[in-house]
Amino acid sequence: MPEAGLTQPELRCIGCHAAFADPARDFRCIHCGDLLELAYTVEASPVGAPALEALWRNRKTSLHPADQSGVWRFREMLPILPDAARDAVTLREGNTPVYPMPRCAQSAGVDHLLAKHQGMNPTGSFKDTGMTAALSVARLKGFQWVGCASTGNTSASMAAYAARAGMRALVLLPDGKIAWGKLAQSVDYGAHTVQLKTDFDGCVNVLLEVVRRYPLYLLNSMNPYRLEGQKTAAFELMEQLNWQVPDHLIVPGGNLANSSALGKGFVEMRSVGLIRTLPRISIIQAAGANPLVRCMKEFGGQRMEPVKAETRATAIRIGNPASWKKAVAVLRETGGACEQVSEEEIATAKQEIGAEGIGCEPASAATLAGLKNLVRSGFVRRTDSVVLLLTGHCLKDPEYTLDMRKPALAIDADPGAVIQLLEASGA
Ligand code: F0G
Repeated sequence: MPEAGLTQPELRCIGCHAAFADPARDFRCIHCGDLLELAYTVEASPVGAPALEALWRNRKTSLHPADQSGVWRFREMLPILPDAARDAVTLREGNTPVYPMPRCAQSAGVDHLLAKHQGMNPTGSFKDTGMTAALSVARLKGFQWVGCASTGNTSASMAAYAARAGMRALVLLPDGKIAWGKLAQSVDYGAHTVQLKTDFDGCVNVLLEVVRRYPLYLLNSMNPYRLEGQKTAAFELMEQLNWQVPDHLIVPGGNLANSSALGKGFVEMRSVGLIRTLPRISIIQAAGANPLVRCMKEFGGQRMEPVKAETRATAIRIGNPASWKKAVAVLRETGGACEQVSEEEIATAKQEIGAEGIGCEPASAATLAGLKNLVRSGFVRRTDSVVLLLTGHCLKDPEYTLDMRKPALAIDADPGAVIQLLEASGA
């Protein structure tokens, strides 16, 4: 066992710091109503960080499921299960690639641009990294039912992990406002999939009432164990960059758990000596679903005024984000920016990411759109190293692509006609 890592997990309120052995079902502090987070004791030593790096690298050659998971490979940093190798419900999540994006870099006006594609997770989004953590806890606690409200990716992920664990899943979705690929996943994995005549924020409210009345384990990102899994993307990224911290990490913001989780991951890496500095973590929202942008610009990060959210990037169509206080803390601690982008900017960015042979869902493309604005404003300099976090797979929302960019009409099955088309396109 290396002499570094985190130990003695404790659930603690982010507001009044009260500790809880047995949290309320909605994972809110019973004293002040704030969210909870996992706090640890830091075990650091001069030899610790290199030992951890070597241990994690060696696990890549192991045949054990927990070692093959891009989450549990880092288990010294999330000691939330008595024995991760035995207790984890895993689909071998994580292990997502980092791609150079030369043409997007040029279009954004930076020399170096990378994208970590979390859409390459088992169910096609970053949610799998959090779900393996929180669902494993749910199973250990003996729950039969798990539930979430979702804009589509959380539900797809939860449905898959619940099915793996032999548990029952309740999914609440905003009627007509989620991408078909995501809805189909939840149905395919056998979850009880219910569309409610409301938006995401309305679905959350209904679910919280259900959780109060029925023994169902809440797997929305109010559940702090979700963030413990999601933070491992930061560890994996640093390993992929040979522990050289980038200047900027740019993430899309919806319910604001992912930005919070990544910030926590970087701060914890610094606390055990794996890195010395933090990247600036910037959060990008769609202009039609911009509660954090307004919170920062109008209320100095002090107050959240919910908005009525509207955007074709349905994954981030959220007006009342649960984790806003955690995200504000990350913006402050890392010195990141919070920006909004228009629907047109998202569509253009998505096309540019697609043209690199990568592809992503609209919410993920908000990161490139946001980067362009941050370069224009001077917040990101041309020579800065930048990593975009792509959160969802291109195939999640093919309807969006086809709506935005109509494919050519069918023509006669005639080689001559096809060659004519090639010539007309300048090939
Ligand atoms: N990108 C994608 C593809 C998402 O699905 C989400 C959130 C986000 C970004 C934003 O992440 O909420 O942590 O700020 N999707 C949720 C869901 C809310 O239900 O699938 P966040």
